[in-house]
Amino acid sequence: MKQILAIMAIATMAGMMVGAASINNLATGSDAKSIFKANKCDKCHTVESQGVERNGAPPPGKTPPDLSGVGLKHNADWIKGWLMKEEELNGKKHLKKWTGSDDDLATVSKWLAAQKKK
Ligand code: HEC
Repeated sequence: MKQILAIMAIATMAGMMVGAASINNLATGSDAKSIFKANKCDKCHTVESQGVERNGAPPPGKTPPDLSGVGLKHNADWIKGWLMKEEELNGKKHLKKWTGSDDDLATVSKWLAAQKKK
């Protein structure tokens, strides 16, 4: 009987730890980071403050900015619109239109809006 109780206690604790880990992912944006990479944003952009390095080569003549401080300039709504090519910057639209899911777009936009390194 004691053994069963112990097993149940361990299982409950493991469950709590998994729960805490996913909350932690949200807070640190490690989900958003993998979405960012999965959508090949890191082909052009770095997010140095988050350890995201460039993984590819931007088109010739383009200098995509590092996004460590992008949240100082834009909020999540604007970033979403920008990624959908609905917003413009200096009269131009983004090079790439978002092709992922709406949920991922919301997650990545929120995460970028939270990047406020000066
Ligand atoms: C083919 C290269 C390329 C890819 C891929 C790309 N971008 Fe960009 N992005 C740019 C360039 C170039 C700019 C600068 C545009 C300008 O200043 O007119 C930019 C600008 C931005 C900005 C605004 C930055 C600022 O300082 O105002 C955000 C936010 C952004 N990109 C996010 C993303 C995200 C998220 C992805 C992945 C879905 C992505 N980009 C994929 C080239 C790229």
